[in-house]
Amino acid sequence: MELIILPSHDVDAVAARLVADDLRAASPGVLGVATGSSPLGVYAALERMIAAGDLDLSRTRAFALDEYVGIPIDHPESYAAVIRREVVERLGMNPAFVRVPDGRADDLELACAEYEAAIRHAGGIDVQILGIGANGHIGFNEPSSSLASRTRVKTLTRATREANARFFDDVADVPTHCLTQGIGTILDAQHLVLVARGEAKAEAIRQAAEGPVSARWPASALQLHPNVTLVVDDDAASHLELGDYYRETYRLKPAVEDR
Ligand code: GLP
Repeated sequence: MELIILPSHDVDAVAARLVADDLRAASPGVLGVATGSSPLGVYAALERMIAAGDLDLSRTRAFALDEYVGIPIDHPESYAAVIRREVVERLGMNPAFVRVPDGRADDLELACAEYEAAIRHAGGIDVQILGIGANGHIGFNEPSSSLASRTRVKTLTRATREANARFFDDVADVPTHCLTQGIGTILDAQHLVLVARGEAKAEAIRQAAEGPVSARWPASALQLHPNVTLVVDDDAASHLELGDYYRETYRLKPAVEDR
């Protein structure tokens, strides 16, 4: 697991460079996209690369991690709407190439199975952008999630509904359930790039990187993946026991790569 600890203002550019490198190599590639506030700056950095002519995502396919169950598709906070606004439009992607789990489906189980099949059919995800919940969730894989889980219905925790109430009028308006790619689904991506900033994420980052692999902290399953990069700011890194070692490893990286 690679940990890149940076001042807050450098996190987005470094994460975006990793994502762009993978997509250029896989051209046109398959991108895994996440909602939440953490990846917004990464999308903005990718948008700048596109404007500068350094990246083209017009033929890139994308899959979102999750969606609320039962939320109207045109609700501004449905993840379908957020992905359309923040990713598809900003990055000049083809809307027909971008999928979000269908939280309005009559048969949710079937929708989940079809979503898994669509990812497989696209050849799998080349690079997955991830945020992390303060309780260690990735996607909407709340604590208790099977580390082998696939796309499925999950009940949101009270803490997650409260954290996401800021996007709704009231916590009572936040849906109680979601569809989310499973942890097993996420671990199938070729490269995982997780971004986190702020003290509120510090314990989740410590557990993800240094804690025991456990359903209690779902992001700890990332330790099982051979190609994960956590790009975090100093506050989000503040609970890490091995922080100095990660910083030293990153500082010395060019010396190894130039050999
Ligand atoms: C949401 C999303 C996650 C996201 C997390 C953190 O509920 N389902 O994909 O990583 O919460 O959000 P934020 O980045 O706003 O803290």
